[in-house]
Amino acid sequence: MPNQDSKSPRVPTHSPIKGLLVYAIPYTRLFAGVIALVILYNLTQVIQPYLVKIAIDRYLLVKNSILSPLIQIGFLYLAITLVGLLANLYQTRVIASAGQQIVWQIRIDLFSHIESLSMDYFETHDTGRLITNVASDTTRISQFFTQFLLSVIRDGLTIILVMGAMLLLNWRLGLLSALVIPLIVLISAIFRPRLHKIYNTTRSRQSRLIGFIAENLSGMRIIQIFHQEKKQLDAFNQLNVPYQNANVNEFRWDVLFNRSFDLLGNLAVAFMAWAGGLAVFHHSIKIGVLYAFISYIQQFFEPINSLTQNWNTLQSSMISFERVSSVLATSPTLKDPDLPYPLEPSSAPLLGQVDFDHVSFAYKPEAPILQDISMHIAPGQFIGIAGETGAGKSTLISLLARFYDVSDGAIRIDGIDIRQIRQDDLHKIVAVVQQDVNLYSGTIADNIRLFRDDISLEQIEEACRITGADVFIRRLRQGYDTWLTPHGSNLSTGQRQLLAFARTILLDPKILVLDEATANLDAVSEMAVQKGLMEVAKNRTTIVIAHRLSTLRYADRIFVLDHGRIVESGTHDELLAHNGYYAHMIHKSAWMLEPTGSA
Ligand SMILES: Nc1ncnc2c1ncn2[C@@H]1O[C@H](COP(=O)(O)OP(=O)(O)O)[C@@H](O)[C@H]1O
Ligand SMILES: [Mg+2]
Repeated sequence: MPNQDSKSPRVPTHSPIKGLLVYAIPYTRLFAGVIALVILYNLTQVIQPYLVKIAIDRYLLVKNSILSPLIQIGFLYLAITLVGLLANLYQTRVIASAGQQIVWQIRIDLFSHIESLSMDYFETHDTGRLITNVASDTTRISQFFTQFLLSVIRDGLTIILVMGAMLLLNWRLGLLSALVIPLIVLISAIFRPRLHKIYNTTRSRQSRLIGFIAENLSGMRIIQIFHQEKKQLDAFNQLNVPYQNANVNEFRWDVLFNRSFDLLGNLAVAFMAWAGGLAVFHHSIKIGVLYAFISYIQQFFEPINSLTQNWNTLQSSMISFERVSSVLATSPTLKDPDLPYPLEPSSAPLLGQVDFDHVSFAYKPEAPILQDISMHIAPGQFIGIAGETGAGKSTLISLLARFYDVSDGAIRIDGIDIRQIRQDDLHKIVAVVQQDVNLYSGTIADNIRLFRDDISLEQIEEACRITGADVFIRRLRQGYDTWLTPHGSNLSTGQRQLLAFARTILLDPKILVLDEATANLDAVSEMAVQKGLMEVAKNRTTIVIAHRLSTLRYADRIFVLDHGRIVESGTHDELLAHNGYYAHMIHKSAWMLEPTGSA
């Protein structure tokens, strides 16, 4: 697939039309073909009334007329109609396919750009808007090519050809017909700004509605547990009603605009019939010429009407394009270094030493979360982090995985500042397993290999044997081919956790972080997971954040976090002996340790 890896999109120029046309450049030849077909089609349309004019003036209105030329004209008319039909059919097909390919490209650029954005973007922008951007805005953009551009070429050409034909037939009547052009410009000038505003309103109300739906679908469980259905429905309706009103309003103005044009068209035909009729009456033109003129003036209005209708299309695709461009113009807050630390497969493997060097961090400047954190973690160590909820444990980990940058200080892996490492490389070195394991639609095997084709089924089975996941997988009727869905899969939390461990084994990170990964497990599952964990922890640096402090008993060192500061550190036994914050936490949850406490 071309350009898929281009992280820097080509769009953001100042004029949206220019930005759009850039996308059309690869299809220049297709568009040229379309223009040729359009010219052919338009010629057939202009020739038709002229043929009828010849038939009337030369053969029908003369005495002793002969039939055979009329039949010839009839056949010619038929043949021309056929050619026009084919040209029209083919032109529509070609342009639709070009439009779809362009929109495919825009979607890819957009999606890959969204993927490259940093975490803070997703916290400050709602998903619904992004869904609208990727799904419906891009569709509307494609209409720029399939409808607007086609209309400009086709209708513009028709107007020129028809105008030319009228001037050739009779320049006086032709000039008279041209009088309607200022009227048309006037009407669009009146409607245009108003319509633009109306479209904008409809689109933004629509994306608010979609945002609401997206949010509620993902939180449906909570809504039902807390019986908030009625309340959310009311809230939904408060968005739905204005959206409906905006649509009705849009429709109303659309109709008003289009009917104004129809009216003008009909008036012009009436005027032509009157003026041309007078001319026929005074023998200054023949009746066939009048026929041709009336046909032409109707043909003249059709493209103008279509152009103005497509003006609406232009408006809405411009609005959509501006919105998409603004997403594309957002650059990730966390950038890869210009000269990243070289981490080729051939270079010496990392050891997995981690240093937090006087690290401070705040999501918002006014509310510091982590303050002056220093930790030295030797390669291969098993490290525990303890602390109450909200102490900043997860935040600490987000910094190590560089979802955010430290506000002060530095984090180093093997002495390399992580800001010097490409983010892709970093995420191969540091893996984080959380409490909720994300599953994707696919088989168990797919979910473990995370859709990387280079991983064989044997490797997957091996990983599952090491972590102990194979026990439950082999009990499933379809084993590794069991189909999972993101939410509906009938796996327990512990089973999901074991899948996550198997994933990690295959990923083989030098540094593994478990963020309360075992918090929701029952005792039996926890034992299974605990065993899996010990296997996964081999040969790598492991950092475990645990709610249940029993998990940390065998840690080489435990850092105790309170209100964003490290208040103590040491082994489990040292910390107990010290009888400080950690010991206090242990005593508070003493019953958890009892069963194994004296063993
Ligand atoms: N994305 C975020 N934006 C702003 N504040 C956050 C964000 N995530 C966490 N916090 C705040 O940071 C503090 C520490 O949170 P966290 O690191 O999740 O604690 P822990 O994992 O120890 O329970 C909390 O006060 C929390 O409200
Ligand atoms: Mg946490």
